[in-house]
Amino acid sequence: MLKLRKKAYMQLSGNEINIPFFFQRCWLIFIRTSVRCPVRVVSAGLARMPLLICRHIINNGKEQSNMKRITISVLFAMTACSWIHAQHTLTVKVNEPKASIQPTMWGIFFEDINLGADGGLYAELVKNRSFEFSKPMMGWTVLGKPLTEGDFTVLNRLQQNSANPRFLRVTLHNNTKGSIGLNNEGFRGMGIKKDLRYDFSVLYRQTAANVKMYIELVNEKGEYIGGGAVATSFSGAEWRKQTLSFNATAAAMKAKMNIWFEGDGIIDLDMVSLFPEDTWKKRPGGMRADMVQLLADMKPGFIRFPGGCIVEGFDLSQRYQWKKTIGPIEERQLIVNRWNFEFPHRAAPDYFQSFGLGFFEYFQLAEDIGAEPLPILNCGMACQFNSAELVPLDQLDPYVQDALDLVEFANGDTSTKWGKIRAGMGHPAPFHLKLMGVGNENWGPQYLERLKIFTKAIKEKYPDVKLVNSSGTDPNGARFDYLNTELRSMNADIIDEHYYRKPEWFFSNAKRYDNYPRTGSKIFGGEYAAQSDKTVSVDNKNCWLTALSEAAFMTGLERNADVVSMASYAPLFAHIDGWQWTPDLIWVNNLQSYGTPDYYVQKLYSLNKGTQVVPITLNNEVVAGQDSLYAAACIDAKTNELIVKLVNASAKEQTNTISLEGVKKLAPQASLTVLQSDNLYSINSFDQPQKVAPKESAMAIKGKKINLVAAPYSFSVFKVKMM
Ligand code: AHR
Repeated sequence: MLKLRKKAYMQLSGNEINIPFFFQRCWLIFIRTSVRCPVRVVSAGLARMPLLICRHIINNGKEQSNMKRITISVLFAMTACSWIHAQHTLTVKVNEPKASIQPTMWGIFFEDINLGADGGLYAELVKNRSFEFSKPMMGWTVLGKPLTEGDFTVLNRLQQNSANPRFLRVTLHNNTKGSIGLNNEGFRGMGIKKDLRYDFSVLYRQTAANVKMYIELVNEKGEYIGGGAVATSFSGAEWRKQTLSFNATAAAMKAKMNIWFEGDGIIDLDMVSLFPEDTWKKRPGGMRADMVQLLADMKPGFIRFPGGCIVEGFDLSQRYQWKKTIGPIEERQLIVNRWNFEFPHRAAPDYFQSFGLGFFEYFQLAEDIGAEPLPILNCGMACQFNSAELVPLDQLDPYVQDALDLVEFANGDTSTKWGKIRAGMGHPAPFHLKLMGVGNENWGPQYLERLKIFTKAIKEKYPDVKLVNSSGTDPNGARFDYLNTELRSMNADIIDEHYYRKPEWFFSNAKRYDNYPRTGSKIFGGEYAAQSDKTVSVDNKNCWLTALSEAAFMTGLERNADVVSMASYAPLFAHIDGWQWTPDLIWVNNLQSYGTPDYYVQKLYSLNKGTQVVPITLNNEVVAGQDSLYAAACIDAKTNELIVKLVNASAKEQTNTISLEGVKKLAPQASLTVLQSDNLYSINSFDQPQKVAPKESAMAIKGKKINLVAAPYSFSVFKVKMM
């Protein structure tokens, strides 16, 4: 023990981590006392250390916004907890199921933030393809020397086409190829793969067939890497679609596209588009397959779309209107993305919503990946952080009608108005919509007034559709308490709670739902992510500490599956060159994507969902922080497996005996999947996408007592078949 004390002292006073003197003294006193205490007392004290230390930092005035200092505190606490190494017996009562786990339990949250849709999941490579951005030529540069002013003009035909009013007119004066043209820079360049086919298309019209167009892709050095001539042979007043497919001769992360003009006369252009062939399911005009694959790999129970604040809009004119996102893409009306200007320090002036990825595509995506669709609709309120515009109650009908029509669009047979439109888009079968959200992060009596009107109308027509209601932006406080009380008294189906909090909040809230009412409204952890620094800080990282804290917290969600029926991390995607918000589950560039440690936590939970919660206890108590251990157990009735999830948030290996009661026999071999890093700062990256990634191994099983060695800072998923 003397050695231990010396080691502790040396570590505490070492230069490596600068722990405040206060803590050093506290800890030395604690070590001294602990030596004389029985193990249980020591354990109780140790379990509280992370909280005591975090609380001290926060209470002492200046809240530490710096990730390093907070993490050091947590690290210190966790390291401290592990110096006295106890052997634990965790008891699992396999034949005492406590709650059913909903198939929807672990899902995903999608929002067009961080170039999530345009420039991300939506595989379109041309930015501002229909010249509808506020600055109509944004993303485009004129090449060469036009002969006269007005050789490139933007025209507006608002009267004839209010959804897609602008187009570009190019006037040629006996031009030769290469003399004048246009360049499109892509969203942050265009990711091009060698030998892959690219499909160019354009809407054009010309009075005489005198103009030729040549497409070329160029790499970062301006070198040609693929293209061809577009056959613009039609003339007349009608718009024609012309396509050109070609293979790229080389790869480029940030290519650009040139269009060269040849001939004499006028040509009008609109919907200038370039897609890779290798979209998800090879659908023309589809989604980036690598990004969808990462989602499909999670086997999510649901997908929430289209957000997020984007549902609300800065003001009501910018709210998400699903009816404007379906049908032919040239008829989908572009609007600005609120993340274009929301954070001046991360401004994205070229961020708009083309809605090439619209509600039909979201429903189709949900179906593809086996997730329940969960659309969230505007409730007649714009974002309350922004304009907070309200629709007067007597003018709410069109909003409510949008909700009713959406159910018909998703589920109605092809004889209905909206079911027919769905069928016309290629999906006569229904999408089986069962869930719908009314409002995103809305709050206050104004929200409840509107919600009541929506609820009455929807429930009258579609009593089986379960409605998700907002409990505001925070998981506590006056706004939350008010909404929580009111929504429960209204018998809300599902209450959406959001928690963007520090890792210590996630560790210390593993028991959040243990005392929630067991009947009435269910909970949807609709948006959450541990913030290594603080919410909306650009310094937040998806490091192992954040992921580990989420894993610990999620043991509490699983344990309380009778209360919590759904949960999703947020936001989902971020483009490395175009993000506004961090942390995010999946990071992408123009060609690659990788899952963060947080992604792997989500995936492990989702792939090991189980069907029934069973008790797992340590000294007859739920495992929620004692000696930095967090655990949940469930059985999967479909496969007859027992699944134990165990988080060891301490710096030391911990040996645990899992003692199984209520089971006759186990298969001789189990599987153990471990997500682990000794370094809480570890992050994944494009260079090391698997730095923190699950490793699976087989475990021989004898009898009903299992020795589970939990590595330092680890999340383990143990799975065994019951015989
Ligand atoms: O996930 C990012 C944003 O966080 C969402 O748009 C909003 O709902 C929340 O405030």
